[in-house]
Amino acid sequence: MQIKGSIALVTGANRGIGAELAKALLASGAAKVYGAARDPAAITGAGLVPVRLDVTQDDQVAAAAATCRDVTLLINNAGIAAFTPLLEAPTLENAEAEMATNYFGTLRMCRAFAPVLKANGGGAIVNVLSVAAMFNVPMQGSYCASKAAETSLTHGIRHELKAQGTAVHGAYFGYVDTGMTAHLSMPKESPADIARGVLAGIAAGEEEILVDQRARDTRAALMQNPRAMELAMQAAWDARQRR
Ligand SMILES: NC(=O)c1ccc[n+]([C@@H]2O[C@H](COP(=O)([O-])OP(=O)(O)OC[C@H]3O[C@@H](n4cnc5c(N)ncnc54)[C@H](OP(=O)(O)O)[C@@H]3O)[C@@H](O)[C@H]2O)c1
Repeated sequence: MQIKGSIALVTGANRGIGAELAKALLASGAAKVYGAARDPAAITGAGLVPVRLDVTQDDQVAAAAATCRDVTLLINNAGIAAFTPLLEAPTLENAEAEMATNYFGTLRMCRAFAPVLKANGGGAIVNVLSVAAMFNVPMQGSYCASKAAETSLTHGIRHELKAQGTAVHGAYFGYVDTGMTAHLSMPKESPADIARGVLAGIAAGEEEILVDQRARDTRAALMQNPRAMELAMQAAWDARQRR
């Protein structure tokens, strides 16, 4: 779909990639951008329409869908990552929280906004996924599982929404320099570059938006050898255990 003239809603638009997506949407000619955040006072980007929205709360999601009835482009960006392994984590708390936000939060938003998009002619949904959805990084195993579930959801709603003309995109990229990865020292992409790449993918009609080189390399490696990343991750986990 064309970004110019669209009416977008971005979840988690107060910081990180979400804030850059909201800014890039306006810069690309979106007619209106709802900046959704748990704390709407934290939406400080110029030109954004703040909306209170915790994606884990049924009542807030329903209220947002009732208020933002003109949305044509929904970007499900809100997400959390606990960076804990599946078995080594002391309890299920992190895994359940990641699933509640990344999977059920996205599903809740898609269910609430699908009728809105239909009423406005179809439009598009973009789910912000990750290369970590393509394989399991054992040091952050439960996050990867939640992003894999969100990826499967993305494919599933695409089937259900085709008849109403809603395009469904999944955006994949590697490490980005935001609060989520502040404790990690590896090279990271800038959130502004990622936002521009996501919008370019929407405009080009790509269902799978491979935003950065990491995503393109990972997809290519998996096409060549479906076990490539699994073998690399086993080596990484074994090296961690030896330290
Ligand atoms: N950073 C990376 O390396 C990277 C890589 C691949 C994919 N991603 C994905 O990109 C997306 C954005 O990540 P980021 O790096 O920008 O993270 P971030 O800087 O930690 O920002 C996360 C955003 O999500 C919001 N959020 C969290 N839980 C929420 C909830 N229950 N309801 C509504 N909003 C909620 C946060 O709001 P508060 O301010 O209220 O906490 C914040 O606005 C996520 O889906 C993440 O999984 C990130």
